[in-house]
Amino acid sequence: MQVKVLLASPRSFCAGVERAIEIVEEVLRHRKPPVYVRKQIVHNKHVVADLATRGAVFVDELDAVPDGATVVFSAHGVSPAVREEAERRRLDVIDATCPLVTKVHTEARRFAGRGDTVVLVGHAGHEEVEGTLGEAPDRTVLVQTAEDVASLDIPDPSRVSYLMQTTLAVDEAAEVVSALRARFPDLRGPASDDICYATTNRQNALHAIADEADLVLVVGSTNSSNSVRLVELAQRHGTPAYLIDDVSDIKARWLEGVRVIGITAGASAPPGLVDEVVAALNPISVENRETVTETIQFTLPPAARRSS
Ligand code: F3S
Repeated sequence: MQVKVLLASPRSFCAGVERAIEIVEEVLRHRKPPVYVRKQIVHNKHVVADLATRGAVFVDELDAVPDGATVVFSAHGVSPAVREEAERRRLDVIDATCPLVTKVHTEARRFAGRGDTVVLVGHAGHEEVEGTLGEAPDRTVLVQTAEDVASLDIPDPSRVSYLMQTTLAVDEAAEVVSALRARFPDLRGPASDDICYATTNRQNALHAIADEADLVLVVGSTNSSNSVRLVELAQRHGTPAYLIDDVSDIKARWLEGVRVIGITAGASAPPGLVDEVVAALNPISVENRETVTETIQFTLPPAARRSS
């Protein structure tokens, strides 16, 4: 049976991911090898494999980096403890932290600095969350769901601020914040949303096609938070949805009886992978449903272009 494809737009790379990849490419061009990258530069296995073939050496922690070597910090950010260790070891650091993650770190320092307990809404163990928690570890608590709010033990309930991981589901995060506000009426938050424009736009674009589709395919890796949130969002619409790293993950049984396939991609998934998926489905038509045009771009840090 021939299918119709609806492409959610915006999808795929965000400005922070493009910047992080470009930073590694620039550093590989200008510095002597080896160039180390702490953690996956962005959460996509194709991006990481491609940069690895071009000379980037991915490591989990700084102890795998020799003293004095060049190391790039990933888009998800690092805690101050990691920065201090890098300084102690005289590592040549190039920071690819997304500016919108840096914004959340700055808020964490400001909120904790004014004496508040900071409630970080996010997913335990995610690298971005680890980094943000590290800004004020003694004053920050993590909540993952609205249910977690009831069990929070806060020393002064009149001094509570909240922050968010940048890649949460907008509707779920709003539920957590209303539970926080119900329990802490003096709750204060960031002046502008911590969930970033790219996460919000990709979710809105998928909302717009999810009901029309019989099946949704989200291109992205399993450790990509914003990609997983897109799968869950489509499923909340009642549409079967699957996360695929690339076209080879598609199962024939998913396509049985399906006439309309919605396709999107997480912010760390290369656009070329979406093109390959569409080509493999050999659809009778492809419709690009754009809900908003993204124009945001971030500049590269000057250090990325400096020679060693
Ligand atoms: Fe930055 Fe949002 Fe992308 S925080 S890396 S613009 S998903």
